[in-house]
Formats: sequence, structure tokens, C-alpha cells
Amino acid sequence: MTKPTRTAKPTGDAADFIPPRPTLTKLRAAAKGCRGCDLFKCGTQTVFGEGPSRARIMFVGEEPGDVEDKLGHNFVGPAGKLLDRAFDAVGLDRDDVYLTNAVKHFKWAKDARTKRRIHKTPSAGEIRACFPWLQHEIALVKPDVIVCLGATAAKALLGRNFSVMKSRGMKLDSEWAPALFATVHPASVLRAPSGERTRAERMFIADIQKVVRYLATANQSKQAIISKHAVDRSPKFSRWPTTAPRSDTSSESTRSSRA
Ligand code: URA
Ligand code: SF4
Repeated sequence: MTKPTRTAKPTGDAADFIPPRPTLTKLRAAAKGCRGCDLFKCGTQTVFGEGPSRARIMFVGEEPGDVEDKLGHNFVGPAGKLLDRAFDAVGLDRDDVYLTNAVKHFKWAKDARTKRRIHKTPSAGEIRACFPWLQHEIALVKPDVIVCLGATAAKALLGRNFSVMKSRGMKLDSEWAPALFATVHPASVLRAPSGERTRAERMFIADIQKVVRYLATANQSKQAIISKHAVDRSPKFSRWPTTAPRSDTSSESTRSSRA
């Protein structure tokens, strides 16, 4: 699939471009031609998720940034460098995780003074239009844990009323995976005032550390996870979550009560 011309009309829904019997390879190829929303005119290319097809952890960001848009890979710019530092700090290997975004095209506007491309937050309509790509990535990878990086990813998966600041670092229940965690976006750590930057980075790393600890515990009772997965992961996900989930700090009791 090739990039559509700028004069092509958006259809309003990425579902129009999902191939039959999708695999990650087929999805990645089809996403190149997506015109689910207006953003295909904005970005240089579709930046699709990457990582092992059976990754146990999936990280979901907002949208590709300036560097990602040019290079065609997720989290390879400044926010990605911070994410790499967090991975190093908690002993996660980037090659073992699946990295994707809620929205697959870079949304930007030109700064009148500097002429640089300034990142713009995707709208609710754009998040909704792009959602089928993420939905299919989750259904195929079947991660044990999903980590939402920032409000856009959290709103995409947990509903518009979800507050990252209230629920960061907690294990959350959702229909998407046996466990879901939300934390701030690494770019917000980079934007923190210099006096707060170190603390913001420490808190971000602490949130990722909680995910790793959860996985270590889950590993011990992997069978429970696998069987729960089979029950919970019906292929028909809802389209656009509207209610915030219940948070639960006790993963064991949550798991057994939902099994
Ligand atoms: N920010 C994101 O949310 N995703 C990227 O891939 C890069 C920056
Ligand atoms: Fe398609 Fe998503 Fe890009 Fe919009 S942002 S054109 S829905 S891939």
C-alpha cells in the first residue's frame, strides 16, 4: 500500500483500511495507505508499531514526533531517549517490548517565527478514527501488560474521563489486557521546569518499575494469566471506551476475581 495523495478524501475511520485476516505485517503494510482521518496529509509517513509479535509488554504513546515522522520509527527522538533511559534503569530491553502510538501520523503546525514543526495534540476524533489500528495490534500481540504513556494513550484505551495524574503507576482493569498501567508521557518529563525535572524523571522510572514488578509476579503465576487471557480477550472489542476503569493495587485479588 502506498501513501495516498494529499487530495484524497479521508474516510473518517481506519477500520476502512484493515485488511482481511490481519497479521502485524499485513496491518503495517495497509496502514501506509490509511486515510482514516485528515492526518495522512500532515505526516510524512504512517509510523506503525514495532516490536516482537509476542511481546509481553506493549507501550502506547500519543503520536509520532518530528524525528519519528522523518525516520519512520516510534520513540527515536528526545522522548524516546528518555524512555530508553527508563528501560535501562529498570532492566527492560527495548527489543523485548512492543512500542506503538494511539495515533499513527504526526500532527503539527508550522511555528510562524522559527518555521519549525510544532507538535499538536491529536483531537478526540483523530484518536477515534485511528483506534482500529491499535485495537488490532493489541488483539494480535496479546500483551500481558499495556502501559499507556500520557493522556492521549490513556484516553484512547480507558475513556475520555480517565485521569493519568490520579491513577498513574496503578494496576488497572480493562478489556485490553490482563493488566494495564498508565503513566505520564516521557515528553512531559522533558518539559518539566529544571528544578522539577530530576524528580519527574524519578517518578516516571518508578512507574515503569511497578510494571516490571507486576510482570515478575505475574510470571510466577503465568498459568493464571494465560487462562484469564483466553476468557477476557474476545476479539470483539468495544470501539471507543467512555468510562474510566476501576483501579486496583492488589493484582492477585483482581486476577482471581476476574478469572
Ligand atoms: N511521542 C510519542 O508519543 N510517540 C513517539 O513515538 C514519539 C514521541
Ligand atoms: Fe489513518 Fe491514523 Fe493516520 Fe489518521 S492518523 S490517517 S487514522 S493512520
